[in-house]
Amino acid sequence: MDVRLRPLRESDLDRVMELEVQLFGAGAWSRGAYLEELTRAPGRTYLAAVVDGPGGELVVGYAGLVAGTEAQVMTVGVDAEHRRRGIGRLLVDALLADARAHGARTVLLEVRAGDAGAQRLYARAGFEPIGRRRNYYQAEGEDAVVMRARLTPSPGPVGAEAGGAAVRGREQVRTGQEEAGDA
Ligand SMILES: CC(C)(COP(=O)(O)OP(=O)(O)OC[C@H]1O[C@@H](n2cnc3c(N)ncnc32)[C@H](O)[C@@H]1OP(=O)(O)O)[C@@H](O)C(=O)NCCC(=O)NCCS
Repeated sequence: MDVRLRPLRESDLDRVMELEVQLFGAGAWSRGAYLEELTRAPGRTYLAAVVDGPGGELVVGYAGLVAGTEAQVMTVGVDAEHRRRGIGRLLVDALLADARAHGARTVLLEVRAGDAGAQRLYARAGFEPIGRRRNYYQAEGEDAVVMRARLTPSPGPVGAEAGGAAVRGREQVRTGQEEAGDA
């Protein structure tokens, strides 16, 4: 089945809300948080991975990034029925390309300390662990591993560098709380 990437749209949010609960449980973002990301927050790239299904186009995964010299992966998720087919990697690679095109030198992300599969995906995409944030996923009382990818400069034109962009992981968007990291 062919998978395509395209920008995530407001009209995808019913489907995204279904997937959020499946993928992130108590850590699911609200529709309002996504609306804010898609419509009001600057410097964001949100992508949908879609396939053609019997009822038309179906969103099977999505991912988001905040651009900046130090870019931040906000989320990556793939429908359980479509995993281990390279869709997560496709999304992560597209985010890295976007970060590079916007002048990022590094890309950071937080991932659940207990999620070895996601950490392996990120490691294979070029991220390495650089620290830990204690109790970052407060709803589940789980630590985050902070991972970083260093980028080589883009061969093409470098976009405006939005240095100092807000760096927020999934939990912080949902709760609005900023937390001092120990990474
Ligand atoms: C993590 C996640 C995005 C991976 O999506 P995916 O489409 O299955 O990933 P891919 O098929 O591109 O996997 C690429 C590689 O990552 C690694 N990987 C991915 N999931 C894995 C798992 N569950 N266990 C072990 N390795 C895994 C493998 O090395 C895999 O390559 P392989 O299949 O050739 O062995 C998906 O499992 C998911 O949505 N999980 C819930 C949400 C989440 O944890 N998101 C990440 C934190 S924001």
